[in-house]
Amino acid sequence: MEIYDNYSLKGLNTFGIDVRARRVIFLRGSTLDEPFRFMYDVEELLKSDFRQAPYMVIGEGSNLVFTKDYEGTLIKIGEAVFHGDGSSRRGDNDVHYRYLTVGARMLTDEMVRISVGYKYYGMENLSAIPGNIGAAVVQNVGAYGVEMKDIVETVDAIDLMSGGQRSFTAEECAFGYRTSLFKQQAGRWLIWRVKLRLNKEFRPILTYKALADELQRRGIGEPTQQQVRDIVTELRWSKLPRPEEYGSAGSFFKNPVVDEVLATNLKKEYPDMPLYPGNKLSAGWLIDRAGWKGRTLGHAGVWPKQALVLYNAGGCTGQEVVDLAQAIKKDVKQKFGVTLEPEAIII
Ligand code: EPU
Repeated sequence: MEIYDNYSLKGLNTFGIDVRARRVIFLRGSTLDEPFRFMYDVEELLKSDFRQAPYMVIGEGSNLVFTKDYEGTLIKIGEAVFHGDGSSRRGDNDVHYRYLTVGARMLTDEMVRISVGYKYYGMENLSAIPGNIGAAVVQNVGAYGVEMKDIVETVDAIDLMSGGQRSFTAEECAFGYRTSLFKQQAGRWLIWRVKLRLNKEFRPILTYKALADELQRRGIGEPTQQQVRDIVTELRWSKLPRPEEYGSAGSFFKNPVVDEVLATNLKKEYPDMPLYPGNKLSAGWLIDRAGWKGRTLGHAGVWPKQALVLYNAGGCTGQEVVDLAQAIKKDVKQKFGVTLEPEAIII
């Protein structure tokens, strides 16, 4: 493994926050193509004293906000490749699914691109999501009507406490809205391999209103997989900052779930407020309505095209992001009685 002390994290988080970690460990070897090298490094890691200080496994850093220097060890895994055997799981009679096995560091969008090339269906709605597949599992990332939980078959992880290995079924991953067992037991599991279950037949998922509206606007009745990918990509980029221009962590808050009474009252007062099944509200709408869209506080801002996204307006610190988030949270609570919780992980 490669060990660096007092390492700058500016390039290891998409917010571009300029702090340092006391130590960063890179595990070498592709998790699939060079498993011996990778496992050798894992062995070395497990034998080392990394547990004596705080530690964290990080992906591409697309959902992290560092508020200060990290006084511990960050662990990052090596390059990722993928294996697609293309076989269906239960022999000739099960013709529904195609499986792809992928190293945890494979970028999610790259994986979508590959799946489209193979004509394996089911993850095209996750196009243009930043970060890698391992992190997408941890967060149960979702967009445009599809979540990781819908396409995960198994997840292989190393128990950093005991050193043992374990394979989890999707059910054992305990997926919820932007959460999983791996998020709940943060620090315990190092995900290194994920098996995806995709469909052999294309059944586009067009339940998400913005996607359905856009298809209708373009007069596309039966989209191809590539068209879904292209439109989702365009929709996302029309709302989010370009990473090369402004750092961000995508949605900063989760869409809040409230009780029935509050949901009903708010809907009565604001008939145009989006209300999703299970009394889930739109954090973006609430923040927008509270007047925060496009505002900045210090060097942190609320993205002018999507109020759910906080961004680095230039040289911003993690603390400035947190201060802005707290001001928004307080205001939304006062105006609507709704408590917002961050989706991003604040460290
Ligand atoms: N809205 C506003 N003003 C805003 C933003 C949104 O009024 O500034 C309204 C929109 O008009 C729309 C509703 O809020 O009626 C929902 O907006 P949008 O479709 O943009 O989706 P979202 O609920 O804000 C969620 C995910 C995104 C994901 C999109 C598309 C969460 C926290 N966010 O956003 O995920 O891409 O749906 O599926 O669930 C992420 O997790 O990082 C992320 C970007």
